[in-house]
Amino acid sequence: MSASSAGNSPPGEPILRLRGISKQFGAVSALTDIDLDIHAGEVVALVGDNGAGKSTLVKTLAGVHQPSAGTIEFMGEDVTLDTPAKALMLGIATVFQDLALCENLDVVGNLFLGQELAPWRLDEVAMEVRAWTLLNELSARIPSVREPVASLSGGQRQTVAIARSLLLDPKIIMLDEPTAALGVAQTAEVLNLIERVRDRGHGVILISHNMEDVRAVADRVVVLRLGRNNGVFTADSSNEELVAAITGATENAVSRRHARKHENTDLQDEA
Ligand SMILES: Nc1ncnc2c1ncn2[C@@H]1O[C@H](COP(=O)(O)OP(=O)(O)OP(=O)(O)O)[C@@H](O)[C@H]1O
Ligand SMILES: [Mg+2]
Repeated sequence: MSASSAGNSPPGEPILRLRGISKQFGAVSALTDIDLDIHAGEVVALVGDNGAGKSTLVKTLAGVHQPSAGTIEFMGEDVTLDTPAKALMLGIATVFQDLALCENLDVVGNLFLGQELAPWRLDEVAMEVRAWTLLNELSARIPSVREPVASLSGGQRQTVAIARSLLLDPKIIMLDEPTAALGVAQTAEVLNLIERVRDRGHGVILISHNMEDVRAVADRVVVLRLGRNNGVFTADSSNEELVAAITGATENAVSRRHARKHENTDLQDEA
């Protein structure tokens, strides 16, 4: 992990404070008694196995789902996030996994698509200037803002989606698996972008199954297991610790596989 994310720097002001959040879908308890704190200028990774409740938690904060119990405090006030528009208006932006970009529109068109909430009504030129300014601030590698999104790479699309979420200057942005479909170089670009977003003072919630990415950018790693909190780690915690918290056991398929691999290499070494 980079020095700037070593967790030595004191966290910024508290933005989001969840206490005792539960979510039932009929008989299914997707979330049970979740606590979570997010501060300005920090990247918090949300990790856990399939079905652990990560997306449900993000959707709860995005105003898509209503919690069955618990409280959400935003900037020191109790809030009800009853619609996605409400969450956005308060300053909680989400980049969903499918990005929802329009292939046939160019970068500017996509950045401003559906931003009817925006306080500005800009003409084409002003929008283009604003798009360039934002992308430059993020040091984003986009060849031209007049390029249709259809011709951009996966990493560039992710960049456009992240830039779009920053247009309304949110307090928090939530990224659901932003590097899942990306190659090595593009993943590095997106991780750099996440660091720049953090350095601008936004709080970032990063969902990822990739522990390498998580350790590269996260200030804290929050583990969910079966819909419950199962530990908070720093990015210098060992892989074994993280895997144990995620799977709920020190003895598990991942550690057994790891041990087997080492046994084999040890045997080879002896031979
Ligand atoms: N709309 C829904 N209706 C009923 N059950 C749901 C709904 N959404 C999620 N669940 C259930 O809630 C639990 C948590 O699901 P969730 O999608 O939040 O997990 P996740 O951590 O995002 O998993 P993944 O890593 O696979 O994306 C699962 O048991 C899931 O089946
Ligand atoms: Mg999910």
